[in-house]
Amino acid sequence: MVSSNAKVSSSRPLGGRMAAVKDMAGYLRALFEVEREFVCCATTLIYRVGDIELKYALCQHVWEAAGHARFIRERGRELSGFGKGEQVRTEIRQLFDEAISPEDALQAVAGFYRVFKPALLAAYESYLEETNHLADWPSSKLVEEFIQDEKRHAQEIEPYLAGVESAAWEKRLTACLQAVGGWLMKEPGLPLPEDFVWSVSEKPYRHPATCNRGSYPVCSSVFGNDPQADPIVRDWLEDPQTDARVVRLMVYVWLMMELDAVDYLATVFYDTRDAPFDLHFDLARHLWDESRHSQFGYRQLPKLGVDLTKLEHSLDLYNILVQMTPAERYAMMTMEFEAGSFPTKAKVMDRVRELNDFEADTLLAFDRNDEQGHVRYGHRWLPEIMKLFGETRPVAEFVAATRIRFEALAEEFGGKTPHSLSPEERVTGSDLLALASKQS
Ligand SMILES: [Fe+2]
Ligand SMILES: [Fe+2]
Repeated sequence: MVSSNAKVSSSRPLGGRMAAVKDMAGYLRALFEVEREFVCCATTLIYRVGDIELKYALCQHVWEAAGHARFIRERGRELSGFGKGEQVRTEIRQLFDEAISPEDALQAVAGFYRVFKPALLAAYESYLEETNHLADWPSSKLVEEFIQDEKRHAQEIEPYLAGVESAAWEKRLTACLQAVGGWLMKEPGLPLPEDFVWSVSEKPYRHPATCNRGSYPVCSSVFGNDPQADPIVRDWLEDPQTDARVVRLMVYVWLMMELDAVDYLATVFYDTRDAPFDLHFDLARHLWDESRHSQFGYRQLPKLGVDLTKLEHSLDLYNILVQMTPAERYAMMTMEFEAGSFPTKAKVMDRVRELNDFEADTLLAFDRNDEQGHVRYGHRWLPEIMKLFGETRPVAEFVAATRIRFEALAEEFGGKTPHSLSPEERVTGSDLLALASKQS
C-alpha cells in the first residue's frame, strides 16, 4: 500500500519534533471518544426498537465498537499526544445527545447509521490516507480492520431502515457534525444557525417506561404454575418426572426471554457515562452475551415447532428495573438474577443431557460459562457504579436493601402488562408438552 504521507508532511506547518506522531495520536484520541460514545448512546436504541433481529444486530455493533475503542486506547497509549484519561470531550457528547433525542426510535437509528457511522468510516479512511503505513503500521492495521467492520455494519442495518424517511433529521445531524469539523475535528467548523437549539436542552433524555417488542405478543411474566396459562411451569422445570424434551423447550423459552436482560442492561450505559471505559467494555460484552443467549432460544424454538408469533414476551423486569437507579438495576441483575440462576440451570442441563442433543448441551454450557463471567463483572463493577452515584453503604448491605426495594417496586410496577393473547391462543406449558411428544 502506498502512503500519501509525503504530501501531508510537506503541507504540515513546522511543529515540534513529534508533530507527526501527535497529529495522528490526536485523531486516534477523537476516534476513541467517538467509539466510546457510540457504546454509551447507541445502547439507548436497543430497548426502543421493536424488531428483535435489529436489537441483536445493535448489541453486536456495540460490542464491536467497544472493541475498536479498546484497541485504539491501547495503541493511543503508546503514542505521544493521545492524552491521559478516558473522558470524552463535551463537543462529542453533545452530538451524541442530539443523536438519541428523536422520539421515533427508527429516526434515531437512521441518524446513527446514515450520518454518524458513515462519517466514522470516512474518518477511518482519512486516517489511513494520511498516516505513514510503515511508521504507523500498528495503527494502520487496526484501522484497516475497523474500516471493514464499519462497511459491514452499514450493510447489516440497511434492511431495517428500508422505507424509513429521514432526510430532515440527517440534515440536522450532519450540520451538527460539521460544526465541530467532523469526527477527526480537523475540518474548519461550519457554525450552526444562530437560532439553533440542541434538543437535549429542551428535553433531557429519559428511558421509556416500557421496552418495545414490535409486533410480538407481550405479557408480564412467562414463569408460573399453570400449564394452561404459562409457558414455563416452575414445578415441571425441576420435577424429575418431567419429560426431558419438555425441559429443553422450556429452557429455550427461558433463554429467549433473556431479551429482557438485553433491554434493561442497555439502559445502564447512558446512565453511567462517566464510568471508566473498562466498565463499559465489560458491560458491552455482557450485553452481547445476553443477546446471544436470547438468540439460542429465538433460533432453536422454531426448529422445534414453536410458533414465535404466539409466544408472549415478558416485560416485567424491564418495567420494574427502569424505576430503579443504575446501581440497583445492575445489582439485581448480577447479584440476584444471575447469581441465583445456577442451581436450577444445573438441574436443567442434566435433564437436557439425557436427550443426547449435542447442540442444546453446547448452548447451555456456553450460557453457563458466560453467566459465571457476568457474576464476576458484578463483583468487579457494582462498587464502581455505586461510587459513581455517591452510594456509600457496604455492597452486601446495598444489595440486601435493593432486593427489598425491588419487591416493593414489583408490587407497584410489575404485573401490569396484560396478556396480548388468550390462554388458548398463546404458547403455554401444555402446548410445549404436546409438541415435545412429537420430538426425538
Ligand atoms: Fe444470559
Ligand atoms: Fe447473564
